[in-house]
Amino acid sequence: MQKEFVDFLIIGSGVAGLRAAIELAPYGNVLVVTKDRPAESSTEYAQGGIAVALSDEDEVGIHSEDTLRAGDGLCREEAVRILVEEGPERILELISWGAEFDKEGTKLDFTMEAAHSRKRILHAHGDSTGKELERVLLTKARSFASVKKYPFAFTEDLIIRDGVCNGAYVVMGSEIRALFAKSTVLATGGTGQVFLRTTNPGVATGDGIAIAFRAGAVIEDMEFIQFHPTVLFAPSAPQFLLSEAMRGEGATLRNIHKEPFMKSYHPDAELAPRDVVSRAIISQMVRTKSPHVYLDLTHMDPDFVKKRFPRIYATCLQYAVDITKELVPVSPAAHYVMGGIKTDMTGATSIEGLFAAGEVTCTGVHGANRLASNSLLEGLVFGARAGREAARYGIRRTERELYAGDERGRKDAGAKKRADDHLRGSSFKSEETRHLLRKTMWEKVGIIRCGQSLSEAQAQLNQWSFILSRSYRTRRELELKNLLTVAQLITEAAALREGSVGAHYRSDHSEKGEGWLNHIRFKKEGDGLQYVFAP
Ligand code: SIN
Repeated sequence: MQKEFVDFLIIGSGVAGLRAAIELAPYGNVLVVTKDRPAESSTEYAQGGIAVALSDEDEVGIHSEDTLRAGDGLCREEAVRILVEEGPERILELISWGAEFDKEGTKLDFTMEAAHSRKRILHAHGDSTGKELERVLLTKARSFASVKKYPFAFTEDLIIRDGVCNGAYVVMGSEIRALFAKSTVLATGGTGQVFLRTTNPGVATGDGIAIAFRAGAVIEDMEFIQFHPTVLFAPSAPQFLLSEAMRGEGATLRNIHKEPFMKSYHPDAELAPRDVVSRAIISQMVRTKSPHVYLDLTHMDPDFVKKRFPRIYATCLQYAVDITKELVPVSPAAHYVMGGIKTDMTGATSIEGLFAAGEVTCTGVHGANRLASNSLLEGLVFGARAGREAARYGIRRTERELYAGDERGRKDAGAKKRADDHLRGSSFKSEETRHLLRKTMWEKVGIIRCGQSLSEAQAQLNQWSFILSRSYRTRRELELKNLLTVAQLITEAAALREGSVGAHYRSDHSEKGEGWLNHIRFKKEGDGLQYVFAP
């Protein structure tokens, strides 16, 4: 096995990973590995924007209150305070690096999204905010000679010696490379691909959560999955997000009989919290026996719509839907995982030497339901924090410590190779399993869950447990293993939480339930898992 030593290893190249890389760059050499091309991440596709209390009508205290309310009692207040207080500085820094947010005259233009009590969402090029962030962060990262990237490098597992993270095993083409690092930052993003319907790009297969879990890290709050209410539902069209900012600008929802319905579900109607809107849509879909409802922008000025949402306008037109003239068929899809690898406020995980930032984590910022457009901000704020802490920790370590780990690592690598040889020629149908897994999760662990659907999902997922002990080499197979781990964690947590809180809705337990303020934490134990309910 080829090996390589770096000071700092970052796994993932979205907003959190790149922001961490920029923070680490002055302290040593930084290697960013990513399983696809560097810009292929959820960040790149983020439309709506980035929430920040920078407008004249806003205050960090109000941003904090909105975030806590959306989180439905389960946010960690310190994390929220850090997010809203450090957010403005991170955004101004981004602007100084060349980020171009949309303006009204000479002032930044802020828009509205659900559950915000102020207009505080910055956007870029109308509806391409994430792309602008990715552009600026990649350019900034490239300006440091100390930062290099390995694209198309799939992280299989972490290198753990005596409970300390020493880097990661990475599959590059047909070879496995041991990348030794003084500190490692996981920033692999979300898990949307675990569900059949999702807004997430194909790369969002929960890899970081799965590999951290296998390595023994504590994982928290996995039952909390946010479903986005409005995703394009048209024949042969991709599951393309129709930003909440459209409802923020006045778009309305109608059922297939063209009747508006949101006012009868929530006083904030179209701008009610996402989980409320998603469930309202599902109930209308069931009532009207239709696989979708409509988003209506036909009453809005067509020129404004085209200018404000150019990417959405052009994409829908590609699939024969002119959003300025016709109703747009939409239905909900999995969008964001609030849970993940538990970190402290510096990005440190429960494994020494391992740090994490962004959607892969559970910092406690989002609680049981994320306030729209808070996640890019979390990536910036906690990406910078994780980078800082990874530098502080890593500069104390010597390469000798890593070499000591390497000697023992070699023996493990030999064992890994033998396992591969043993499995060569297996005829397991991984694509079929991937599809069935995603379908099971969508149908039984989706927007509305109950004890029975969850135990059916558990039984189905357990039948595939043999996958977890196998050693694979192709990206699709490695992803499947991670998808299964994450699916099991989500289902297990959803079954354990017998109550409805935030985005987790149980039709058999519509109240919050006893002990609802506790979080569910998982840790691997042998081939199974250990759980605790903890405040
Ligand atoms: C959207 O544009 O609706 C997505 C924004 C977000 O999920 O934060």
